[in-house]
Amino acid sequence: MLLDEAGSTNDEAKRLIAAHESEGTVVIAASQTSGRGRLGRKWVSPIGGIYLSIILNPYINHSRLPIITLMAAVACARTLKGMTKLDVSVKWPNDIVISDKKAGGILCETFRNSVIVGIGINLNTNLSLFPVSLKKQVTSVKFELGASLEREDVIRILLEEMDRVYAEFLDKRDREIIDEWTGLCRMLGSEVTIETGRGKHEGYAEAVGSKGELILRGFDGKIRRIFSADAVKVRTENI
Ligand code: BTN
Repeated sequence: MLLDEAGSTNDEAKRLIAAHESEGTVVIAASQTSGRGRLGRKWVSPIGGIYLSIILNPYINHSRLPIITLMAAVACARTLKGMTKLDVSVKWPNDIVISDKKAGGILCETFRNSVIVGIGINLNTNLSLFPVSLKKQVTSVKFELGASLEREDVIRILLEEMDRVYAEFLDKRDREIIDEWTGLCRMLGSEVTIETGRGKHEGYAEAVGSKGELILRGFDGKIRRIFSADAVKVRTENI
């Protein structure tokens, strides 16, 4: 489904699921008026960006859901790296990063028996359209590349990569997905501050575990497993 404007493509996907739309259905909007990010944050969604939601029905144990976020991040990174040769990386739990700034994000939500994979990429987005408060943390592919990309081409390749990596997921090749994600991640080994509803933890991001959780070695030497479902706020040196 192609829309000039949506409130949130994830909400459109929920409407389609309620109307029994099938797995693989994709909602794409040219802009969003109420784009949503993690932790109830607003996702600024002007013309030029990619805003899409994919409906999946993987019938899996809930413990594997975080892998779907890593899977989507891998598909985004493969696409953008392949098309631009930019140094595209990922940050736990759901960020797409270029030049230490956020260029995209994933918002996975469950609804009825489905999973909605919401992907936002600041593609040809003019950075002046972001609020001043976000300017230091946000970038776009166009800004980093110094040129626009054909949005339709990027979406087509991204959906092809999603097909490939989702096939790996359905084959239960979670370890391969995690390893690929880890290879794209620059935050491992560096100092991080994690805030959850239950407190603040500081230490080194050591690895990502088999459930997609961040393994943190605290400055006190203790190993903690942090799950993104615990509404975590993650701060690294840059973003
Ligand atoms: C984040 O980094 O916090 C996640 C951002 C996810 C944004 C995408 S844009 C398409 C889909 N629709 C939404 O409202 N959000 C996701």
